[in-house]
Amino acid sequence: MQKKFFNKKLVVRGLEISPPIVLAPMVGLSHSALRSLVQAEGGVGLFFTEMLAAKRLPHDNEFCSPLLIRDESESPLIYQIITGNDADIEPAIKKLHRLGADGVDLNLGCPAPVQRRQGAGAMLGANRQQLQKILYKLRKSTELPLSVKIRLGHSLDIGQLRSFCLFLETEGVDMITIHARLHGEKFCRKPRWAVIGEIKDAVSVPILANGGIFSPADARQCLELSHADGVMIGRGAVEQPWLCAEIAREIYGAGTGCKKIDKSATYLQFIDLLEQRFAPERRLGRLKQFTGYFAVSFQFGHHLAAAIQNSTSIEEARRRADDFFAGSRC
Ligand SMILES: Cc1cc2nc3c(=O)[nH]c(=O)nc-3n(C[C@H](O)[C@H](O)[C@H](O)COP(=O)(O)O)c2cc1C
Repeated sequence: MQKKFFNKKLVVRGLEISPPIVLAPMVGLSHSALRSLVQAEGGVGLFFTEMLAAKRLPHDNEFCSPLLIRDESESPLIYQIITGNDADIEPAIKKLHRLGADGVDLNLGCPAPVQRRQGAGAMLGANRQQLQKILYKLRKSTELPLSVKIRLGHSLDIGQLRSFCLFLETEGVDMITIHARLHGEKFCRKPRWAVIGEIKDAVSVPILANGGIFSPADARQCLELSHADGVMIGRGAVEQPWLCAEIAREIYGAGTGCKKIDKSATYLQFIDLLEQRFAPERRLGRLKQFTGYFAVSFQFGHHLAAAIQNSTSIEEARRRADDFFAGSRC
């Protein structure tokens, strides 16, 4: 069968996303250190921050908050906000303008009880009236690209998903990321990429497909089934920080030749980045969370994960990682 050709570049309200491979927002993971690590491997056209509470954002210090610390090389960068209250929007956007955001994303998928109680995330997605108010304020307060991140819905209903996306588009949203699972479906469930394909033609704004991409073959299948304009990668890029580069090369023919993967060097570079970017008390927890995913790429990686989980300092974690690499053929 002839291989399909996919567009190498996506332009959203003047923002160039090339290649159209995007690092997902992930609490505790999509911070400056991971973004820089993935950036160094190449292949990412756009970064996201983890979700930021819009209410708190104006008061957070960008020089010490691990949620806001950023290196210039992590670019372009969309800041994802979460709120259920339209009064939060203007001050949050003012702050994002000051931070030099390349775009703003509104989280409409988070199911966490704390967000639910505030009418935010998935709850906001189900409340059209309030969502309309929030999108109106967002659109009025910024010329930056405005995107939203959603799931497929509460039940499989193509008509409803299509009408929701058209509503978002009418309210001024410039791009939609669809995590191809229903609300409540676990991450281990196979994503429903083809469902995106069923609504794609009806929607004019670009769509990013997300969920369950762990290899270039997954990315290809996802694009073929969803007809999406690009892919968003989450856990796959934590397990394999070089994954976006591989997808860029194999799917989009982008980037330079094949770089040798050095897993232990990548891991130690991540520790260096944590030390460079964050205050001492902000490092170990993030290393533990990262290791839970990254260790999967090693044979006997559970030994590495356990050794890091039981470390009480970043220095001890580094020593234990060195010992693990010395004894493993990676
Ligand atoms: C630890 C973790 C934290 C997450 N935090 C966010 C978040 O802050 N905002 C968001 O929209 N989605 C969040 N997600 C969902 C991811 O962005 C993504 O939709 C999901 O992981 C599926 O993509 P993947 O299979 O490529 O990981 C999170 C996922 C994980 C695993």
